[in-house]
Amino acid sequence: MTERKKMTLPGLFQKVAAGQPITMLTCYDFPTATFQEQAGMDMILVGDSLGMTMLGYESTLPVTMEDMIRHSQAVRRGSPNAWLIGDMPYMTYQPSVEGAIRNAGRFMAEAACDAIKLEGGREMADRLAGIVAAGIPAMGHLGLTPQSAAALGGFRVQGKGAAQAKRIVEDAKILEQAGAYAILLEMVPDRLCQLITERADGCFIISLGSGPHAHGQLLIYHDMFGLFPRFKPRMAKVFGDAGKVILDGLRMYVQEVSQRSFPQPENWFGMPDEEFEELKRLLK
Ligand code: KIV
Repeated sequence: MTERKKMTLPGLFQKVAAGQPITMLTCYDFPTATFQEQAGMDMILVGDSLGMTMLGYESTLPVTMEDMIRHSQAVRRGSPNAWLIGDMPYMTYQPSVEGAIRNAGRFMAEAACDAIKLEGGREMADRLAGIVAAGIPAMGHLGLTPQSAAALGGFRVQGKGAAQAKRIVEDAKILEQAGAYAILLEMVPDRLCQLITERADGCFIISLGSGPHAHGQLLIYHDMFGLFPRFKPRMAKVFGDAGKVILDGLRMYVQEVSQRSFPQPENWFGMPDEEFEELKRLLK
């Protein structure tokens, strides 16, 4: 395995200053984290999207802190060196600043995360500022924020109109001033993302389906490998159809077991004749 250095906040800002795009993916389990570590991923997000990708819920809302901590721990075991972000689930930060700090602290203490992410603009700025004041790096999330999908009218592009776009630009500045080290822009128009990126001062911008002009890119792991059976979002590129490889393999397994062509001698373990004879004698 290639040796790599632990990614740190100064390391991320050095990449930004050098004009090198930051790589970021979601991840929810140990084996995938091991692959992402080997591929040299800069940042890994244990997203509450795991509610949909891993647990089969229709939305992210049922995800709990316990779910997030368990999966974050597994990802950290597989990737000791990526910058690891725990995604704060629904209603673990919205009700109060104190609750937000306590739950953010759990990601750091129990799962060895490097940072947390929370959704929302000006209305969540005091939660984010409280977390940062407690010494925990915090990433903001604007545009399509899945925990508010009902209020936003579904999973759709945000900021296409000038008035809503202006609000997103203002929210990005407010989160930056509250201490966010980075802001994720999900599904906003490319020109809006470019404008916010150009105005960023002291934080960097990550794009998810918001075009090429941000400081870095994020995709949902399951979307890029054909592993989410319900749908493929337009913004996702399929880098390999692992879903097809797995389904083909499963069908082959069902066929081979049914036809008794699996297992073969290389797939089982034998026992010396004399031991087997002795076993039969002992059982008499
Ligand atoms: O939960 C998640 O994976 C996210 C992404 C949609 C950005 O928040």
